[in-house]
Amino acid sequence: MKRRDFMRLGALGLLTLTPLTTFAMSKHHQGSATNLRVRQLPEHLPLRQLPEIENFSSSTDFKTRLTLAPTPVELTGPEHTALWLYNNQITPLIQVTEGDSVEIQVDNHLHQPTTVHWHGLNIPNSEDRGPHDLIAPNQSRTYRFQVKQGNAGLHWFHPHPHDYLADQIAHSMAGAFLVKPYQDPLPADLPAYLLMVTDLRLDSQGQVAPHTHVDWMNGREGDILLVNGQRNPKLELAPGSTLRLRMINACAGRYLRLILDKHPIQLIGTDGGYLEQSVELDELLLVPGQRCDLLIKLSDEPNQTFALQKLPYDRNWMGPVPAHYLIPETLMTLATNSDSPAPARVLPQRLTEIKPLAEAEVRRQIELSEVMSNHAMVSMSQEGDDQQSVASHQQGHGNHGNKAQHRPASMMTGRPPVEFLINGESFTPGQIMFTGKVGQLEEWEIFNNSHMDHPFHVHGTHFQVVAEQDAAGVWQTPDYLAWRDTVNVQPNQRLKLRLVFDEPGEWMFHCHIIEHEELGMMASILVQ
Ligand code: C2O
Ligand code: CU
Ligand code: CU
Repeated sequence: MKRRDFMRLGALGLLTLTPLTTFAMSKHHQGSATNLRVRQLPEHLPLRQLPEIENFSSSTDFKTRLTLAPTPVELTGPEHTALWLYNNQITPLIQVTEGDSVEIQVDNHLHQPTTVHWHGLNIPNSEDRGPHDLIAPNQSRTYRFQVKQGNAGLHWFHPHPHDYLADQIAHSMAGAFLVKPYQDPLPADLPAYLLMVTDLRLDSQGQVAPHTHVDWMNGREGDILLVNGQRNPKLELAPGSTLRLRMINACAGRYLRLILDKHPIQLIGTDGGYLEQSVELDELLLVPGQRCDLLIKLSDEPNQTFALQKLPYDRNWMGPVPAHYLIPETLMTLATNSDSPAPARVLPQRLTEIKPLAEAEVRRQIELSEVMSNHAMVSMSQEGDDQQSVASHQQGHGNHGNKAQHRPASMMTGRPPVEFLINGESFTPGQIMFTGKVGQLEEWEIFNNSHMDHPFHVHGTHFQVVAEQDAAGVWQTPDYLAWRDTVNVQPNQRLKLRLVFDEPGEWMFHCHIIEHEELGMMASILVQ
């Protein structure tokens, strides 16, 4: 919310500055119908590998079919939870090699339209859909592209239709897309695991609960935290083992401030692939949309367990916080067995070369902000996530609200009259914010002029963060170079990103908190 909106609301006597502050800071817990169910989910089962999507190719390098349908899953009890899954699998995996040509037919058996976005792949725009070219119910679409050299890394895929996205993500629609390099600097026999983190919230019938007011405002966090579809799975190895963990944060809104019990973390890669060399960290913040590649040298002590945890991180939540928000949560457990210690591994120091992007030819300013209509804060503070209160406030959806009136009523459920904006605009399909050129060096200064953290994401390319402002407003150069496609921006923070688009077309950029994206924090650049 911008300062002038505060003042306007204050003048109307509807809101003063004090209630918002106390409201944002009152971290009382949100009740949950599913706590019991969460406890029923078994823990410490052996970590399952992501189920791999079969390659049917005879002529092309990778060819498959993804069937999207409601799938009953036995999750927390005898009732089956209907999730919306690709090939009936929670977080399936597509695995290809750099240079492969790929052909994927997507059959939509949902009752609503969808699209597929290949998050992190630099492919032609026509094959990588944002809110364009919907696949209608009972229709199919074939995506064909070649994975370019240099695009090795752990990427992922998820839907991107506007107005239906939050519901589809809440039903677990997502998969991993691993692009293996021609030549990997790390030895092939190094134990490596892919971890895809999602969360779920179910109602008392065991079905995916509808979005609440608070979900829309903050980005939804389900109370069931899953790694590869499991609750706190266990991975057991010989003491002293060196292992590689590659993780995707596929949650709609949950931030993962990662820490491994009694072990430092070696970060070796980010969204766009390897770092030049590993960086030792005590903790790592992995925000929605981001991936990380980690090396862990396990303790030499046999028969020990170490929790890979998410520590609390306050992303400036508005309203009642979920029960898990303030406490550490265990994602998975690493364990040493009683085998004799694994020999130490000698790994290459240098993993790749990252050339710093040169001085930009074009500079752009991007400001993230949020606005609310008069009723928003009043109803949130009085009624929390009471759904009933929302409908009556839809009319109050002022400034940019006309589009919203055209949405089907079912899509509006629980949406608060708030909009998240980029450069003062709420996303409108077909509207283009910037025009750029293929191969042109760009510098984007991102300014978060709002009260919450936002993970900023760009389609179709990767960027380098070249400068970030610290709390005192001084520009700092980041400690290491990395290719990213998603980066967190804190309230009042400014970041400078450099990037080049090498594919023409309309490319989206947005907040990767799915609900913020749907409430308008998305725009596009037309690259010619
Ligand atoms: Cu995973 Cu438009 O993003
Ligand atoms: Cu993306
Ligand atoms: Cu956001």
